[in-house]
Amino acid sequence: NEEKRAYGQLVNGVKQLAEEKFQALIEKVAAANQKQKTADIDLTLPPSNSPLGAIHPLTATRQRIIEIFERIGFNLSEGPEIEDDWHNFSALNFPENHPAREMQDTFFIEKNPDIALRTHTSSVQVRVMENQKPPIRTLSPGRVYRNEAISARAHCIFHQVEGLYVDENVGFADLKNTLYHFAKEMFGKETKIRFRPSFFPFTEPSAEVDIFFNGRWIEWGGCGMVNEKVLVACGVDTKKYSGFAFGMGLERTLMVKYGITDMHDIVEGDVRFTQSFGVGKK
Ligand code: DAH
Repeated sequence: NEEKRAYGQLVNGVKQLAEEKFQALIEKVAAANQKQKTADIDLTLPPSNSPLGAIHPLTATRQRIIEIFERIGFNLSEGPEIEDDWHNFSALNFPENHPAREMQDTFFIEKNPDIALRTHTSSVQVRVMENQKPPIRTLSPGRVYRNEAISARAHCIFHQVEGLYVDENVGFADLKNTLYHFAKEMFGKETKIRFRPSFFPFTEPSAEVDIFFNGRWIEWGGCGMVNEKVLVACGVDTKKYSGFAFGMGLERTLMVKYGITDMHDIVEGDVRFTQSFGVGKK
């Protein structure tokens, strides 16, 4: 009882203090709101400092290749990444016992009849010839799959660009000139190329193409005159038409052009790599 009075005073004091604080805070918030309302903010302005997306160097290279060939009359064609035996192997004159037809080289989805992830974009050649009458000038970029150990120079998923030209009187000189033109456009006027005799089941004769770039010869792609057996398998009149084909690796082309030594840099998606090509930089 004796302490009642002192206690009541104390509690009242606390209550008063709390009310004052509360009132002060309300006023502060109201003042801040008022200031914001009248501040000079333009909410329609785009935000600053947002990093831009970048075109991946592979995509840029692919676009550049397409551009070069489009200017000399090539169109674009595509085929499925899951392919049957006929389009990936048989129509391209791969013999029954060819090593590429083994599980350790090819990712099979089904056996008998064989369905696999395509091992090259040459399969698109077959589809184009089956569906279009010559003259044909077509470029087929796309993803391909090989059951390979991953290393600095190889990956089990990569990209190729296939070219096919079928018309009357097409000869090896046309092939050479086309690739020479491409190499100069892609790698610079001074670029030299050389053809080494090689073998592919779908071309006869066949050659491998090297590029002289930055002071050394670099293996770059394959090519040849389309094997008559392939033309026949695809229903092309070989009395009237002949053709050439070529295939290049997209990663390889990018690596040659920019002196990239490890393929992983291309596929791992580190933005610092993309940015070093000047894209997406602020
Ligand atoms: N398909 C071949 C490969 O994957 C590349 C190639 C070589 C394509 C010669 C062609 C060609 O069209 O004529 O290694």
